[in-house]
Amino acid sequence: MPFTANRQFKKSPRMFVAAKDMHYTTSDGRQVLDGTAGLWCVNAGHARPRIVEAIAKQAAELDYAPAFQMGHPKAFELANRLVDLTPDGLDHVLFTNSGSESVETALKVALAYQKVIGQGSRTRLIGRERGYHGVNFGGISVGGIVANRKMFGTLLTGVDHMPHTHNIKQNAFSRGEPEHGVDLADELERIVTLHDASTIAAVIVEPVAGSTGVLIPPPGYLKRLRDITKKHGILLIFDEVITGYGRLGTPFGADYFGVTPDIMVTAKGLTNGVIPMGAVMVSKEIHDAFMTGPEHLIEFFHGYTYSGNPVASAAGLATLETYKEEGLLSRGAELAKAWEDGLHSLKGLPHVIDIRNIGLVGAIELQPIEGAPTKRAFSAFLKAYEQGVLIRTTGDIIALSPPLIISESQIDQIVSTLAGILKTLE
Ligand SMILES: Cc1ncc(COP(=O)(O)O)c(C=O)c1O
Repeated sequence: MPFTANRQFKKSPRMFVAAKDMHYTTSDGRQVLDGTAGLWCVNAGHARPRIVEAIAKQAAELDYAPAFQMGHPKAFELANRLVDLTPDGLDHVLFTNSGSESVETALKVALAYQKVIGQGSRTRLIGRERGYHGVNFGGISVGGIVANRKMFGTLLTGVDHMPHTHNIKQNAFSRGEPEHGVDLADELERIVTLHDASTIAAVIVEPVAGSTGVLIPPPGYLKRLRDITKKHGILLIFDEVITGYGRLGTPFGADYFGVTPDIMVTAKGLTNGVIPMGAVMVSKEIHDAFMTGPEHLIEFFHGYTYSGNPVASAAGLATLETYKEEGLLSRGAELAKAWEDGLHSLKGLPHVIDIRNIGLVGAIELQPIEGAPTKRAFSAFLKAYEQGVLIRTTGDIIALSPPLIISESQIDQIVSTLAGILKTLE
């Protein structure tokens, strides 16, 4: 099983057999409130009729069309809708099947772009400590989670990492963006000085690092990365696999922070998690740079059998329609205050060393048990599941990201369940 304690699971399986709106049903017939939108992806809640119907209809009408040298209308329609939704300056879309594939696609676009514009010496990629960019080789190379990297050899060469922005000492219990740390962006200048700008193709960061425990950037940090990358001809890639599609109360993290990257990586909420699909948005400048040479030749040697799959495209269109009809891409902003107040009410409970929140994302960081890191948070996860709330843990951090349809009373349920659990944890 993926990212699972296999032996523990098999001794005591946790199985979901159905889901509707905010709840899962377990194999023993219990309702579990979804505090994590599945894996940060079911932003509109479960089994939404418009999406279910679109998938069924599309599978009956056109189940598959070859992705290479052929097209079908829904992929183009979805690409156009995405271009309308993303910030100005992101004008073209490449489809993938996951966040990991979107990351690989973005990194390859960046390297190839530098080559086609005559900057072929720019081969270096810069990521960030504690970054998560999926599990493929490019993604783990630019990513900064040790456990995901250490077993897999030398990874991509020519990669460097900026420091992460997590700073409990100065920023613990910040509400929203933490005050300290904007100068950490200047580490990029140091890295540019070390390697020289002429060797660097792109910088990739998550606007808010999610999987590593909800690390929120200080005000001005992303803008500073934008200024430094622009100054040195380096592409800026935002990995918005978690922050995309309403998670922060805006369509994308780029909107929330007012910073537009050259390339945006998305997946998860694009299809509400129902059908695997990712999308990478690029600027017109990047797209146009490839559109040269004889017209019968392929311009970019990359793609997947299922890129822009018709059923996935139909699911994506129905998902965007659902978000629009129900105002879900801004609902996180409406609920952010109640969410923040609820989470921060847990301050002072045993083991809690930090609480963080932004939009409809939250994290509660626990003091690890000496000599047994992750055990305390995992035990909170198991207890919450028994008590009817699905949470996620990463290290000793509880991460929360409910569907954007959550009600205030359901926020209260998550908070009161956690309060009870924190009081009983070893
Ligand atoms: C920021 C980020 N990038 C990439 C990925 C990888 O996505 P996937 O699991 O769909 O490959 C994730 C998954 O959580 C993510 O959070």
